[in-house]
Amino acid sequence: MKHFTSLVLFGAAVVALVSAAGTEGEISFEYHRYEELRKALVSVWLQCPTITRIYTIGESFEGRELLVLEMTDNPGTHEPGEPEFKYIANMHGNEAVGRELLIYLAQYLCNQYQQGNETIIDLVHNTRIHFMPSMNPDGFEKAASQPGEIKDWFVGRSNAQGVDLNRNFPDLDRIIYINEREGGANNHLLQNMKKAVDENTKLAPETKAVIHWIMDIPFVLSANLHGGDVVANYPYDETRTGSTHEYSSSPDDVMFKSLARAYSMYNPVMSDPNRAPCRKNDDDSSFKDGITNGGAWYSVPGGMQDFNYLSSNCFEITLELSCDKFPNEDTLKSYWEQNRNSLVNYIEQVHRGVKGFVRDLQGNPISNASISVEGIDHDITTAKDGDYWRLLAPGNYKVAASAPGYLTVIKKVAVSYSPATRVDFELESLMERKEEEREELMDWWKMMSETLNF
Ligand SMILES: *[C@@H]1O[C@H](CO)[C@@H](O)[C@H](O)[C@H]1NC(C)=O
Ligand SMILES: *[C@@H]1O[C@H](CO)[C@@H](O)[C@H](O)[C@H]1NC(C)=O
Ligand SMILES: [Zn+2]
Repeated sequence: MKHFTSLVLFGAAVVALVSAAGTEGEISFEYHRYEELRKALVSVWLQCPTITRIYTIGESFEGRELLVLEMTDNPGTHEPGEPEFKYIANMHGNEAVGRELLIYLAQYLCNQYQQGNETIIDLVHNTRIHFMPSMNPDGFEKAASQPGEIKDWFVGRSNAQGVDLNRNFPDLDRIIYINEREGGANNHLLQNMKKAVDENTKLAPETKAVIHWIMDIPFVLSANLHGGDVVANYPYDETRTGSTHEYSSSPDDVMFKSLARAYSMYNPVMSDPNRAPCRKNDDDSSFKDGITNGGAWYSVPGGMQDFNYLSSNCFEITLELSCDKFPNEDTLKSYWEQNRNSLVNYIEQVHRGVKGFVRDLQGNPISNASISVEGIDHDITTAKDGDYWRLLAPGNYKVAASAPGYLTVIKKVAVSYSPATRVDFELESLMERKEEEREELMDWWKMMSETLNF
């Protein structure tokens, strides 16, 4: 509490210092333990209070908060039509680089915003961005508490209960693979099952909190930051047959490759075709241009990436950012330099594809309407205000909007790389249609009656 008070008192001084210091002047490239992480987020908030908010989505097993920094022009609310983006890091508590990069990224965006960088101002004004630097704060504390610079490869990976959080999500891949063969939903596979999630004793508190977060906010795009290798990994992570290595495409394979490339191409190490494998015996044969399909690399059941795609509208990829999981502190600046442009560019990807609103003929929003694209067996749904974002690679598409009780509308849409093409839909309710038909019949009857002099 004492620390917090002094931070508030020094807030004004911090602002003055930072605006005088110039680019990156205030980013200190060091590891942040739990308390330091809190303070780093608070100081971003103090420096950029109009565009940031700190909130927590719950607690870890040992009671540490799962902190999120939100950055946007109106923090705290979903603005109709504005897409939502998230970065999650340090889900494996000993994979520490992503945790630090998200802190630096928040500091960088705040600095650039204040210095009037148009690119960053546009991004912050048109996107609701959420950063969770640590999904596994207990694991991180355990990993960081080891003496010496060299950390064990496994200590701190799991949460405090020994649960590997990236194997702990409901295994929706199994369900989608059955639905592909036998028919069934192609999206939102946990629909109406929130209670079952809450009652499931196998889910760690960190997993449960993140599941609720994914279900409650209309996220469009996300990345999950890991370490131990250097590659951008895209769905599906779990193979169809259960074999260890097998290319496992999702219906959005083309777009996912494009998203993964949008990250890797700005990272000179990740995209280097001559980069040696992290360890001599590593099998990187599935890596190309710094990206890999998850299943082609190795099968992961119960992961968070596929869960996002199969339980919500959110497209997520998994980023492996460093050969060392917990590298020496003096290398953190070089990881920031390798990843800075990728981290910013990947957020920009949320503004691709098709977006708009679905409303009825009176202009009322229709929430939970389905947006389907011919040839892609994965629908997304509209949010509360009838707003939707359908990520798509460049091309010509037929896009349909439908909702129970309404006539489906199909539109032809041309999509370029970016920005997203705006397409709104007005759906006529079947009740209205019946009423119209009845009126037409009445008019006809009246006319006939008059003509025939009934
Ligand atoms: C503005 O931000 C973008 C994205 O990070 C960066 O590439 C560019 O160099 C920045 N411009 C200035 C003038 O710093
Ligand atoms: C959304 O629509 C689907 C299918 O039309 C339905 O099963 C589901 O219950 C709806 N969800 C909500 C929250 O209304
Ligand atoms: Zn990991």
